[in-house]
Amino acid sequence: MTKRQFATNGVHSGEGEHDAHGALVTPIYANVTYRYDSPTEMKSEYRYSRMKEPTRESLNAVVSDLHNGEYARTFASGMAAINTLFTTALSADSHVVAGQTLYAESHTLLTRVFSDFGVDVTFVDTTDTENVANAIEENTDLIYLESPTNPMLQITDIAAVAAIADEHDVLMGVDNTFSSPALQRPLDLGVDVVVESLTKYVSGHSDAIAGAIVTNDKALDAEFEVIQYNQGATLGPHDAFLARRGAKTLGARMEKHCENARAVAQFLDEHDAVDRVYYPGLASHTNHEVAAEQMADFGGMVSVELDATLEETIAVLEALEVFQLAESLGGVESLVEQPAVMTHQDLSVEERDKAGIADSLIRFSIGIEGTEDLLHDLEQALAAGCN
Ligand SMILES: Cc1ncc(COP(=O)(O)O)c(C=O)c1O
Repeated sequence: MTKRQFATNGVHSGEGEHDAHGALVTPIYANVTYRYDSPTEMKSEYRYSRMKEPTRESLNAVVSDLHNGEYARTFASGMAAINTLFTTALSADSHVVAGQTLYAESHTLLTRVFSDFGVDVTFVDTTDTENVANAIEENTDLIYLESPTNPMLQITDIAAVAAIADEHDVLMGVDNTFSSPALQRPLDLGVDVVVESLTKYVSGHSDAIAGAIVTNDKALDAEFEVIQYNQGATLGPHDAFLARRGAKTLGARMEKHCENARAVAQFLDEHDAVDRVYYPGLASHTNHEVAAEQMADFGGMVSVELDATLEETIAVLEALEVFQLAESLGGVESLVEQPAVMTHQDLSVEERDKAGIADSLIRFSIGIEGTEDLLHDLEQALAAGCN
């Protein structure tokens, strides 16, 4: 059969395969355990829901198809999926080459949890791929990065780093949360393992926490299964159902996220109260060309630095009416946050400076509301907050 398109897979993959009654949409299988016919004969492939259950199987099917991958597993959160990658790839005395601006919890997992088992990490600016090659050591077992990064939206040439990983025979993992498979499929770029928080774009409605790990390597997937079954960060059937439902509209939603984000980035780029806009879709973005090459579009995340003090920036955020002041991203509703006092408040001033996080930095997750309403909201809030 010809390969189906992304939007078609989003709607149909896995549906109809995991239910005995012909339900159009895979139901929520809330039961914990499954009947046996005799002690040596199970009634079906399902035994106990921590291991495998039909609602989650339908989500696994759509996630693997959307990523063009062979094997997908879904977990109780994005962090549980990331932990599975780290636990599988690393052992005592392993070394990791990691992007210098990882999601804070991924950074903490490496530096406060895996460090206790003797894992050593070198953080590098992966936007210059030479830095990755130079940081590889004898005992490097994993190269791990995000692109675009949070909150500065830096872009790394993923295929170039995958080639370096290949050359040195090192496993490479990418956290694809900021793009979702609608915009970027790292396995197609040569990456070994993709991890993603499905809580964000795939679920898309800010109502489910879930994560995924995807690979084309059967042996690796078998190792992920060991972690999933035995560490037990199981995705419950209700959240699996919501994430599966969200995936049906991912392609359509992402088009609107990108359209709105482009309009917001252009509007803010021309606004007097704004010093700098970070959006990979702007020609002025440092790695715009790489983003255009490896992403289908430039995504729904926009960060800006205002020409304003910390207090003025807070006043702008307080004046917004359509944009909701909350952490997280990737949902249908536009969210806004101020990294210096919200998501990145635990960093020291020096660490924030190093990461380029100014007091006046604002991160937007652009939703799918009417474009004009978003622009009008920004206009009135900037006028109210920046005198
Ligand atoms: C880039 C990135 N990776 C991973 C995560 C963790 O996802 P979850 O909250 O589903 O565990 C997040 C959450 O914000 C994220 O932004």
